[in-house]
Amino acid sequence: MDKLKIAIASDHAGLEMKEDLKEFLLGIGVEVVDMGVNDDKSVDYPDYGIPLADRVSKGEVPKGVLVCGTGIGMSILANKFKNVRAALVNDVFTARMAKEHNDANILVIGGRIVGKGLAREMLKTWIDARFEGGRHQTRLDKITELEKKNHK
Ligand code: RB5
Repeated sequence: MDKLKIAIASDHAGLEMKEDLKEFLLGIGVEVVDMGVNDDKSVDYPDYGIPLADRVSKGEVPKGVLVCGTGIGMSILANKFKNVRAALVNDVFTARMAKEHNDANILVIGGRIVGKGLAREMLKTWIDARFEGGRHQTRLDKITELEKKNHK
């Protein structure tokens, strides 16, 4: 089986969490595309979230992880992109549902909100979960229709 490839990016507020999640992903055999930030100097989260969401949107990487202080800014921007379904999660159940029901292709985590252990568990849960399709696909199709109208 091909190695899973995941892009990861953060702002300064999510840097420590990004580095920890990157180490975790490498440890479980995932190919990681680190899209910054690389130091804790204050930056604007869109400068790091936009390039990652763009790559996921274009299908260049199948999955992405975004981290900022709360996760809110990163999720707002990521969901502006066509084909992106970004889910901000703070617990393991939501992380599983984000894949099973919403087929989320970007997981967003608040580096100032959750601890590293929980963040790792949420990430692993999302990676291992499978989209259930069926009625959930019908619902996603309605969102895709809306996206098509908005991106004309
Ligand atoms: C940065 O201070 C903070 O605003 C940012 O990391 C994020 O939480 C925005 O949503």
